[in-house]
Amino acid sequence: MAARAMSLATMVLAKMVLATMALATMAAFGPRVALAKSPTCEGCHAEEPADVIRFLDGELRSVRVNPQTVIDSVHGGEVSCQDCHRDQKKHPHDQANYLNARDFRIAMSKTCNRCHYAHFTRLEESVHQKQLAKGDVDAPTCVDCHGAHDIEPPRSLRAGVSERCGSCHEDVVKKYAMSVHGAALAKGDPDVPVCTDCHGAHKIEDPEAYKFHAGSYLICARCHADAEKMKRHNLNPDVLSTFLDDFHGSSNRLYTEVGYVPEAPVATCGDCHGVHDIQPFSHEGAASDVRRRVSEACRKCHADAPDDFADAWLAHKAPSMSSSPLVWGLTWTYRILIPMILLGLIMHILLHLWQVGTHAPKRKHS
Ligand code: HEC
Ligand code: HEC
Ligand code: HEC
Ligand code: HEC
Ligand code: HEC
Ligand code: HEC
Ligand code: HEC
Ligand code: HEC
Ligand code: HEC
Repeated sequence: MAARAMSLATMVLAKMVLATMALATMAAFGPRVALAKSPTCEGCHAEEPADVIRFLDGELRSVRVNPQTVIDSVHGGEVSCQDCHRDQKKHPHDQANYLNARDFRIAMSKTCNRCHYAHFTRLEESVHQKQLAKGDVDAPTCVDCHGAHDIEPPRSLRAGVSERCGSCHEDVVKKYAMSVHGAALAKGDPDVPVCTDCHGAHKIEDPEAYKFHAGSYLICARCHADAEKMKRHNLNPDVLSTFLDDFHGSSNRLYTEVGYVPEAPVATCGDCHGVHDIQPFSHEGAASDVRRRVSEACRKCHADAPDDFADAWLAHKAPSMSSSPLVWGLTWTYRILIPMILLGLIMHILLHLWQVGTHAPKRKHS
């Protein structure tokens, strides 16, 4: 019995070896037709009409892929079909069992991680990835932002960034498009921020978190404290220094440095100006109207601030004799008085030492 099983096994093995040898000979010396039929990805996937993937929810997707699309992409020549699709080596492939197209994309996106590990780890720390891990399948993967076969150089299309983010954040993009930044971008201004200048692309932080809010003035400062850039737009480049000199900015900086979280968040740039809906401040109308408009911005936090409340604030101006004589006067008084007092103190000590050294009565030693 055992011997019969043995001989059967040997026979099967011998047949397999023969078949393999025949195939190998065909591949080496056989007609060209046999070579063309060897299963390359393009051989099946560039065909028309193409086969389909069946998702479990009933949706069908054509598996036709134009190889030229991949060649024209950033990966052209360097990354092949198999580099990304490592599970499709067997033909026919294993039956794909994806719930739906979204499930398929999330699974396929993992293929990018192998070669772009740095971007993957950055994405891991983002709000998007955390949301995805919580089961929110609408959060973006690499493929939602970059595509799969038709990936373009990501920095070339600045204006396209808001469209890309906007495919999911429609409300924000609408607001942004009407803002001073968005309007300038539409006119081709390269100096204004797009979504990724403020949020980053991969490691997007939670914007509601205290740390992000408190530090957000540094984002604005990248451009608004850049004297050359601001000169091109005829804007005041001192908005950062004046912010840091006043109560909000100095408290904010101090709290951040010592790691203290105050009960009420201190105003940063965005609390007075907005972030996605920033408009230039209007100076139209009477002085009292302008003043009232400034106070409106303050009432968000100082609820019952009267219209003259904003007079307590220097409106991004370094104090001058004409704009705020009291602050200016006091500043200069201190600037002159304090060094004079210090100088007087030092002089006093020096004179005292000199007096002790030269005029002290000589002691008699006996
Ligand atoms: C003999 C023809 C054939 C060859 C060769 C072939 N495919 Fe396919 N492929 C198919 C068919 C048919 C489907 C759709 C049915 C299915 O899901 O298996 C498919 C589906 C796919 C899918 C959809 C997801 C999945 O897992 O089903 C991917 C991705 C894919 N192929 C990649 C490749 C790559 C990469 C190669 C080259 C290494 C390749 N294919 C070679 C016929 C082929
Ligand atoms: C840079 C990686 C990458 C390369 C290179 C690549 N693919 Fe894909 N492919 C993907 C990803 C990711 C998806 C999922 C796309 C989606 O969710 O829309 C995909 C989807 C597919 C599908 C399913 C149908 C579709 O279009 O969604 C097929 C079939 C396929 N690829 C075949 C190929 C073939 C054939 C090549 C070579 C000519 C190739 N791929 C090259 C990453 C790649
Ligand atoms: C087999 C390795 C490999 C895989 C898998 C892969 N890439 Fe790439 N990728 C490269 C190489 C190599 C380059 C070209 C060199 C470079 O610019 O870093 C590149 C370039 C890029 C660029 C352009 C970089 C630049 O600075 O212009 C983007 C964007 C990109 N890949 C995204 C993806 C996405 C998204 C996926 C998954 C769908 C993916 N890659 C999968 C290797 C890979
Ligand atoms: C929310 C959208 C988004 C997601 C998700 C995303 N990217 Fe990007 N990526 C961008 C944008 C936008 C850029 C352009 C650079 C910039 O503005 O910082 C970029 C740039 C890149 C670059 C070019 C090099 C660089 O840093 O400028 C590579 C490579 C890249 N991404 C790969 C990936 C990979 C891999 C994944 C997934 C692990 C991924 N990206 C996920 C939006 C995204
Ligand atoms: C495929 C859809 C998609 C794309 C593309 C996308 N996002 Fe998101 N984003 C989400 C989802 C889903 C959430 C989590 C739910 C929410 O808070 O809206 C989220 C959350 C966020 C948050 C946190 C919101 C909060 O209230 O905590 C920010 C900030 C953000 N995205 C910025 C961006 C930027 C910038 C881009 C472009 C580079 C982008 N997103 C592209 C889907 C997307
Ligand atoms: C000038 C910098 C800046 C730009 C440009 C910008 N954001 Fe924001 N965004 C912020 C700040 C700061 C916050 C946090 C709000 C706060 O501190 O009150 C935020 C909050 C968010 C939030 C969560 C709160 C909300 O309003 O839903 C999302 C989502 C978001 N941004 C997406 C985007 C997208 C998409 C774009 C591009 C159209 C974009 N942002 C452009 C600075 C910016
Ligand atoms: C990438 C650079 C950049 C960043 C980051 C940036 N801005 Fe701007 N901003 C500009 C430029 C350039 C203009 C001038 C646009 C124009 O000429 O129409 C401008 C215009 C403005 C204006 C209108 C000024 C006026 O009266 O005309 C305000 C207010 C403003 N930004 C506030 C902010 C705030 C608040 C932030 C941070 C949340 C910020 N900006 C981030 C570049 C930037
Ligand atoms: C307490 C509220 C408040 C804070 C905080 C604040 N601003 Fe302002 N900012 C204003 C008001 C009000 C005006 C209009 C004042 C005027 O022109 O009389 C203004 C004017 C501006 C202008 C226009 C300047 C010009 O040349 O006309 C810019 C740009 C600006 N702010 C940016 C910033 C930036 C960047 C920050 C953070 C570093 C910031 N602001 C912080 C309230 C504020
Ligand atoms: C985002 C909320 C917020 C906005 C908007 C805001 N402030 Fe404040 N402000 C604060 C907080 C919080 C403090 C307390 C600072 C501290 O802890 O030292 C403060 C402190 C002050 C102080 C110091 C005296 C005091 O009450 O502690 C003055 C004066 C002041 N703000 C004026 C203004 C003016 C003028 C505006 C409008 C142009 C304004 N603030 C807008 C939150 C805000």
